[in-house]
Amino acid sequence: MTQTQWTAVDRYISDLFVPSDPALDATLEASAKAGLPAIQVAPNQGKLLMILAKMQGARRILEIGTLGGYSTIWLARALPAGGRLVTLEADPRHADVARANIARAGVADKVEVRLGKALDALPRIEAEQIGPFDFTFIDADKESYPQYLTWAMKLSRPGSVIVADNIVREGQVVDAGSRDTNVQGVRRFNAKLAAETRVVATAFQVVGSKGYDGFAIAVVAGED
Ligand code: SAH
Ligand code: DHB
Ligand code: MG
Repeated sequence: MTQTQWTAVDRYISDLFVPSDPALDATLEASAKAGLPAIQVAPNQGKLLMILAKMQGARRILEIGTLGGYSTIWLARALPAGGRLVTLEADPRHADVARANIARAGVADKVEVRLGKALDALPRIEAEQIGPFDFTFIDADKESYPQYLTWAMKLSRPGSVIVADNIVREGQVVDAGSRDTNVQGVRRFNAKLAAETRVVATAFQVVGSKGYDGFAIAVVAGED
């Protein structure tokens, strides 16, 4: 199995299930033109996030790591009228590109891009009592994933869903001795999520146009 094959199958899936979408196409084009790294979720993964948020009936969504707003737009499309999404981005250039993309996609009224380090923004979000969030997507710097989990829990309610991207890192996640701080970050995150008694959680590997990686998903217990 090769990257070529994974890409071909992702194209097959996207051709079937994720037809060309002017706003999302323009988002990818503008992000590439601005020199942003092409590390946004794949189209079928973006649609998965939208489906998960819809299944959840999410009215308030928190995203940690905006980049050019590609996953943001997918998630915003899951929101009902009056729904709200707050997305956190440390890089002002990324935030600018994202704001333009989000406006072009017609979801600016639902989305707030907050510029600054997520670990500075999260305590403010708690103080402002914008939460609890029904759905949180963790996708920023991997070193801070364990802390992002702490905050996601703090800003959740029973029944809230938490999803994290990039928790497999081309399989490097099984290397306990890895000197890659990203790998150590996701390892600590996975261990912490697995030990968290207030959630039901799992993780899975994904191959596709974006290579070999994976997602973790958790639902906060105690709703019923
Ligand atoms: N969710 C996006 C991809 C995010 S890439 C998508 O799938 O479309 C990760 C983003 O996190 C980058 O834009 C990076 O600048 C941002 N980031 C890195 N460290 C951060 C921090 N400490 N706080 C907030 N954002 C951060
Ligand atoms: C990286 C970050 C991401 O969010 C992603 O989806 C892929 C790669 C990275 O920092 O390498
Ligand atoms: Mg990611």
